[in-house]
Amino acid sequence: MSKLQTSYVSDSRSDGERVKSRFQVRDNGLGFSPITIVLHWVVAALVLSIIAIEIALSVSPNSELAKVLNLLGTILFPVSVYRFWARTTSYHPLPLGTPNPVEVMVSRSVATALALAMVLLPIAAWLSKSAAGLPIELPGGLFIPAPISPDRQAARIFDVLFKIGATPFVIGLALHIFGACKNHFVLKNDALKRMLGKRVEL
Ligand code: HEM
Repeated sequence: MSKLQTSYVSDSRSDGERVKSRFQVRDNGLGFSPITIVLHWVVAALVLSIIAIEIALSVSPNSELAKVLNLLGTILFPVSVYRFWARTTSYHPLPLGTPNPVEVMVSRSVATALALAMVLLPIAAWLSKSAAGLPIELPGGLFIPAPISPDRQAARIFDVLFKIGATPFVIGLALHIFGACKNHFVLKNDALKRMLGKRVEL
């Protein structure tokens, strides 16, 4: 079966034949898979919580909250590796309505860049903290092992790399959320509803 064909087979016959349905594992030209949809919102919740905790920690440091931040980052990483692989190896569903092709290219590039950033930023944060000799503690007294030994120069480099990545990431995320709001409130199409699970006819 080609990737463009839907793998969600729903075959309902008037003669009363049994309805066959198969779970759609991968995205295709016709729609997002339920796995993409669930993981998209899990990642969105994790990222927005991480940003909120980072802001709270910059106002008043709190070691318990820092452990929660480490835990969220630890959950985010493997989910993001899967999502980046899934995003780059399956078709992105066709855009809704008659959008400007440049906007489609920009929005898809931003979405893929966000997925890549979700893989690279946790690695940069992990290397930066390890090189700075900071233990990465999780709630319950668990620790994430350090991949490298403390080194001040390496810590500075990883910290700069993290900041270089984090700034365009936040800008890209703002652009992404702006695009979703524009589709929903101005263009009044079903792009956001499709990402919330609505089956949309193309
Ligand atoms: C409130 C926050 C967010 C909203 C409202 C939102 C909305 C959307 C919508 C409507 C789509 C579907 C676009 C289409 O039809 O092509 C989408 C796709 C996507 N979004 Fe978001 N998004 C949010 C947060 C995030 C975050 C935090 C990330 C990652 C850091 C992200 C990454 C992606 C990616 C990679 C896609 C492409 C589909 C996929 O592979 O999951 N989004 N988003």
